[in-house]
Amino acid sequence: MTVIGTGYLGATHAACMAELGHEVLGVDVDEAKIERLAAGEVPFYEPGLPEILEQNIGSGRLGFTTDYQQAAEFANVHFLGVGTPQKSDSYAADTTYVFAAVEALVPLLKGDHVIFGKSTVPVGTAEALQKRADELSAEGTSVEIAWNPEFLREGYAVHDTITPDRIVVGQRDGSTASEIAREVYATALAADTPFLVTDLATAELVKVSANAFLATKISFINAVSEVCEHTGADVTQVADAIGYDDRIGRKFLGAGLGFGGGCLPKDIRAFMARAGELGADQALTFLREVDAINMRRRTRMVELANEVLDGVLGHRVTVLGAAFKPNSDDVRDSPALSVAGQLSLAGAAVRVYDPEAMENAAKVFPTLEYTESLDEALDGAELVILATEWAQFRNMDPEYAGGLVKDKKIIDGRNVLDVQAWHDAGWEMQALGRNL
Ligand code: UDX
Repeated sequence: MTVIGTGYLGATHAACMAELGHEVLGVDVDEAKIERLAAGEVPFYEPGLPEILEQNIGSGRLGFTTDYQQAAEFANVHFLGVGTPQKSDSYAADTTYVFAAVEALVPLLKGDHVIFGKSTVPVGTAEALQKRADELSAEGTSVEIAWNPEFLREGYAVHDTITPDRIVVGQRDGSTASEIAREVYATALAADTPFLVTDLATAELVKVSANAFLATKISFINAVSEVCEHTGADVTQVADAIGYDDRIGRKFLGAGLGFGGGCLPKDIRAFMARAGELGADQALTFLREVDAINMRRRTRMVELANEVLDGVLGHRVTVLGAAFKPNSDDVRDSPALSVAGQLSLAGAAVRVYDPEAMENAAKVFPTLEYTESLDEALDGAELVILATEWAQFRNMDPEYAGGLVKDKKIIDGRNVLDVQAWHDAGWEMQALGRNL
């Protein structure tokens, strides 16, 4: 098989498919990226991926190319994992890269081929791609577009790809694409992984619905968090208590700085935009609220820092975390970096430390001060903000940290610290949605 697009999704899919025993060729237009991958180097941080990349290149099952001709000749099964970022001038998703990949590949194909789309796309895209493929395919060649959404989480991408919790395949009437998918995912199916065959639109909707639901769940608890701030109630206890109801569940009820990353923010916006285009805009207006609640958490954090320091201007603030979540170096729409940036623009002297995301963060916000170590970040701080819950920050020793900072003041932006231990070590603590 080929895997077209070798970003977070595609590179992981390619390496994992090779790990499962398939012959895989990863394809990308970015020569530098392909060169690094071919040399066994993962261009981003993803635990476990470097090992399987190297092993499978070594075994000869995994290769990389920028040459579409080679891709067309290599396989009859193709996976499409290119990006669908938010458009610069609207909420909609930009499907340029998805179409570009199909337009580059299809005219070169001979025989019978299936292209499984994995990218998150607006509903209706697969059908439009099928039309385009029909226009571009050579006489006697058949190209089937099917949709096989990807649910992997960054930081757990290898695990989620090799042992997914479900496999969804959207196909047109009478298509046998799902039979091919059954062969591809034979290992997961042998372990009784649920396998759902749907039409194209349903498969596309499954992905955006899943992400919209997760975003809504986070914003729900963050809305409760806002109310807690006005009443003195404790949002983490509310989450624990409602989470015991297995209809609700405790996962994704982590109140704090809210969601970011390359998926949830853009996906809820693209979902709203697409619903509007389809004439169903009222159905998803609540997602505007989900987005707004999420953004307000960042503003609230900046307000809180101002309250604690009686104005941040001229004060030294240390922000722990730059990645949008732990175990990732991804800073796309990162709440941590947004807070650090806003504080800096308000005149604070901001220091940032993140175990993996410093390089990416420095590209987005070159004006912030990035330190080499956690100790250096804490040194002389007047306020510490825990913005991304890396284990290194969760497990900080409050006594030791207290010896490094100027003032023992901390805001737990992810509600992960042991309040008693930090209080015992003499720290003044604040958090979102809790009165500490
Ligand atoms: C998400 C989906 O989980 C995944 O299925 C999909 O394929 C891509 O989008 P990802 O973007 O890797 O994955 O991150 P996820 O683990 O879902 O976290 C998203 C954001 O929500 C992070 O910023 C995280 O910090 C935040 N979050 C998560 C919370 O604020 N509270 C929670 O309780 C959980």
